[in-house]
Amino acid sequence: MLRATRHLRTIRCIPRYYSKNDPPVIEVVDVTPRIKVDDIVGSLKEINFSVDKSRLVQKTYEKDENIPEGKEEENGLTKHLKQRIKAAGPISMSTFMNEALVNSEHGYYRTGTDTQIFGRSGDFVTSPDVSKMFGEMITIWLTTILSKLDQKKPIHLVELGPGKGTLMKDILDVLHRVELTPDFLNVHLVEVSTGLREVQNEVLGSPVTKTEFGRVPIYWHDDLSTLPTDDSVVFLAHEFFDALPVFQFEKTERGWSEVLVDVDQSAEVPQHFHQVLAPGQSVPAKLLENQLSRFKQEVGTRAELAVYSLAFIQQISQIISERSGACLIVDYGTHEKSGFTCRGIYKHEFVNIFEKPGQVDLSVDVDWKEITNAVEDYSNGALMTAGPQSQKGFLTLLGIDSRCSSLLRRETSDEKCAKLLMSYERLVEQMGESYQALCIVPKNMFVVTKEIPGFELEQ
Ligand SMILES: C[S@@+](CC[C@H](N)C(=O)[O-])C[C@H]1O[C@@H](n2cnc3c(N)ncnc32)[C@H](O)[C@@H]1O
Repeated sequence: MLRATRHLRTIRCIPRYYSKNDPPVIEVVDVTPRIKVDDIVGSLKEINFSVDKSRLVQKTYEKDENIPEGKEEENGLTKHLKQRIKAAGPISMSTFMNEALVNSEHGYYRTGTDTQIFGRSGDFVTSPDVSKMFGEMITIWLTTILSKLDQKKPIHLVELGPGKGTLMKDILDVLHRVELTPDFLNVHLVEVSTGLREVQNEVLGSPVTKTEFGRVPIYWHDDLSTLPTDDSVVFLAHEFFDALPVFQFEKTERGWSEVLVDVDQSAEVPQHFHQVLAPGQSVPAKLLENQLSRFKQEVGTRAELAVYSLAFIQQISQIISERSGACLIVDYGTHEKSGFTCRGIYKHEFVNIFEKPGQVDLSVDVDWKEITNAVEDYSNGALMTAGPQSQKGFLTLLGIDSRCSSLLRRETSDEKCAKLLMSYERLVEQMGESYQALCIVPKNMFVVTKEIPGFELEQ
């Protein structure tokens, strides 16, 4: 049996990253394929399919006396997933992550409020909330990009997963202060969470109530399909790609085998789910064979494929190459991603990925190689990428040191100076190496990647 073991590491109120030397682990205890057709057929027989689906749910769970002592309390998503697995067999890790994060009734980002997710009271802290200096540096990158675009036509600034809206607020604030807010700028926020949309609306102002940022209209979208179909687009994605589901695979004697999620009935662990290896080649393993060929082909190698991320990158690449624009991604993940990186984050601690499904954040390291390869493929060579470059290098090249010094000079209170220095330290040192920045631009926008602000050290 393949099982995720609990690994806790306390990182109280520090950002959503971990040290390379002490990563959270999903430990494989033993590997024995355990999905049998009989099991699946057996589970199907246990479920009484009837027209009254509400009674079906009740029947399956409230009368389930097979839950051993010591299991954590079942929440709505646990019940839903158990039922789904019982009916149709183990699910992909990607399905599990998708359900846990964005299930319309129980998903983490659908149900969590801003204070439950972000900040001290929540599960993690992100750079825009550490200091305004982060947004100010991103605006320096942005103004150079805007200056390269045709300013006689509208430009669409799209943020993917804007969270509380802090980064966009800080960007618009700077553009407005230096009177650079172009008349032709439209802001689009791609956000699944209705609760967070409300927070963003409050922070930024809706198209009707906007006053603070002049005439910049703000629009919300579920995905990229409803974005305007003409004009240049600049995409920003801060800690967005790490929140997208991945498929997991392990190389076995039989070839690449998909890691699936099954119900755990044992009394050994409090979680209701554990991982198993598909006995045969699952559909994703077959369809993704080509993608898996870039990993080491030794038995025991583990790989994650971020198919949802690739879908976004495909659309972004097509939009930028056809209409011009750019994309800036800042997220965590080392240059060379390897192994399984999916982790659970709850109240500033790493927790088992199967703990309290839907109440715990799940995130993965971004696979920069996968993204850069995809940009090359989907744009037919029309785009170039700069990075990944460490957040430390990126912010330093954009001038965070002099910005911090200038703020310190103006600050009269010792307490505020100490706070400012702590924020600087956090962005540049603590988060400086684990977070990376990657920029995607058309090849005709810059002669070499070294010309792109924040990426001047590129080889
Ligand atoms: C980790 S938070 C990052 C928030 C913000 N960018 C920051 O750095 O503070 C991820 C954000 O992406 C949104 N999100 C997650 N999955 C999404 C999806 N599939 N489509 C659109 N938004 C999504 C979440 O609701 C949330 O706003």
